[in-house]
Amino acid sequence: MNRNNFEWLTKIKEKASRYPDPYQYLLDRLYYMEKKNERLRKMLDEYNSADKKIPIILHQDTAAKFISLLDELITERNEELLFDKIINGLHSVFGYDRVGLMLFNDMTGKIEGARSIGLPKDYIENLKIDPAETQGEKMRNYVARCFSEKKSIFITDRFNEKDFNTRMSDNLRIYSTQYAIAPVYGKTKIYGVITAAVRPDNQYFMTENEIVILEFVAHQIGIIIENSHLNAKIEKFYKDIILTFSNLVEFRDECTAGHCNRLIFYSKIIGRKLNFSFSELREIEIAAALHDIGKICTPDNILNKPSKLTPEEYDEIKKHSLKGAEIVQPLSDYSNVINAIKYHHERWDGMGYPEGLKGAEIPFYARILAVIDSFDVMINYRPYKKPLSITEAKKELEKCAGSQFDPAIVRMIIDLPDDEIIKIQNGIIGIY
Ligand SMILES: [Fe+2]
Ligand SMILES: [Fe+2]
Repeated sequence: MNRNNFEWLTKIKEKASRYPDPYQYLLDRLYYMEKKNERLRKMLDEYNSADKKIPIILHQDTAAKFISLLDELITERNEELLFDKIINGLHSVFGYDRVGLMLFNDMTGKIEGARSIGLPKDYIENLKIDPAETQGEKMRNYVARCFSEKKSIFITDRFNEKDFNTRMSDNLRIYSTQYAIAPVYGKTKIYGVITAAVRPDNQYFMTENEIVILEFVAHQIGIIIENSHLNAKIEKFYKDIILTFSNLVEFRDECTAGHCNRLIFYSKIIGRKLNFSFSELREIEIAAALHDIGKICTPDNILNKPSKLTPEEYDEIKKHSLKGAEIVQPLSDYSNVINAIKYHHERWDGMGYPEGLKGAEIPFYARILAVIDSFDVMINYRPYKKPLSITEAKKELEKCAGSQFDPAIVRMIIDLPDDEIIKIQNGIIGIY
């Protein structure tokens, strides 16, 4: 070993001592720098063939970051955000230069680039790989093979690829010397692959042991994707059931088409303004969807009477809030929903029904429903009245703030821009 080499080795050793597994780092680095050096190659082979315990390559800091990344992924319900977090998380926690998430598209039958970091956007967006494309030694084949065989692949020695030098000089921006691909699979299905790569100028070097961790991460991500699909299905089922029940009322009460759906949107807007949690938003939207469910017990001739109601008929209609609360009684974990339905016709001044509750005695969700329910009725057609304009309805609400309605809730509706209200009116926001 000449003097230069000796100095270089000393420097590398110093650097290695700062790594959790200095010996592995050193070997990897030496192998990388002196790839043609048979002696070092032999040393590495010996290390790898020895009793291979997986060294703890995740030192404390990385482990903590890794655990909080998994926590974040598991709790992310939005799939698009989940994919962003996967890519950014792997990049920042493990220090890979390039991370790519490729997902199988059931429609096209191809494995397609979904997200990446460190790779040009157009490159990943146009990447479409046939899972049958498993022959040869190119990246496309590796991806296809990893996907088809559900096995990870680690390419550590791309220097031996026959066009290595040409590709390095022609296309440095997307070429990496080390490359790992791990399958993303859940319990029932393979979803795609994760690719990770380090560029030649990265001081860090991937090791075999690390691939085990990448595999683990990829599998966890598969399970997270699977759970998120399952959640989406449950979520859709939940929404369909809620809409089915609100349809029940709307089918009986001919003039309220779309009323419950619009109330869901108003309730969500107010809930978000008040920083409601996910479960609070859920409660208020169920309450909005089902607020008039008790009307299914109101006789048809009263419910759809085109002219003014007699006092007796009005008394009959008033029963719907108590009936509604009885109907939703099985929602025993949602007492806020039951109370919102029961008290949505109470008034701020205590003159409402069924119990004449006053001010803050009225459950909060019921106060919200009272305002948005009346506002929606005001600006929509009913057989007994013409619709008011948005401005007129807002004025009317303002007039009744402090008598019929909670003034704070009224304020929120008054502050709502007219174009947002028009969107809800026209169903532009879509089915909830
Ligand atoms: Fe009602
Ligand atoms: Fe209503």
